[in-house]
Amino acid sequence: METSLVLLKPDCVQRRLIGEIIGRFERKGLNVVGMRMLQVSPALSREHYAEHVSKPFYPNLEEFITSAPIVALAVEGLEAIRVIREMLGATNGLKAAPGTIRGDYSSSRQMNLVHASDSPESAARELALYFPGEQICRYSPTLTGSFRAADEG
Ligand code: CMP
Repeated sequence: METSLVLLKPDCVQRRLIGEIIGRFERKGLNVVGMRMLQVSPALSREHYAEHVSKPFYPNLEEFITSAPIVALAVEGLEAIRVIREMLGATNGLKAAPGTIRGDYSSSRQMNLVHASDSPESAARELALYFPGEQICRYSPTLTGSFRAADEG
């Protein structure tokens, strides 16, 4: 089992796509085990996007990610980090394949609706930023047996 940090970004909240996107993860069989609505501060943006802070696009990215509330999710499932990244599609909505979240709903490189962790190391770092302490709610989903066979994990 893996847990990924997913952010529904300000464009997702402003466009009233929160339910639509969470629904895709739920229908796939992933478990939402953490959910928080918050306004990202410039300091949190710099921490989250530490690898991008020195890039030319960072000032615009910070202005965007702090512009309205976001919804942070902890999403659990088998191979969840890879599965969710593939559900998102390519970073640029114009290049993302149809059928992916960005391919279906985004026409932008910056306003690409959703962020998701790209590795187990990023997931651990990002989950600690948005869900510090004991804020993740693990439970045993009663429908697991309808999503996959017992020997699949
Ligand atoms: P995300 O998956 O959250 O990771 C970094 C974000 O920076 C990315 O989605 C985009 O929103 C944004 N981004 C990446 N590359 C560019 C770029 N070249 N110009 C503007 N924004 C970018």
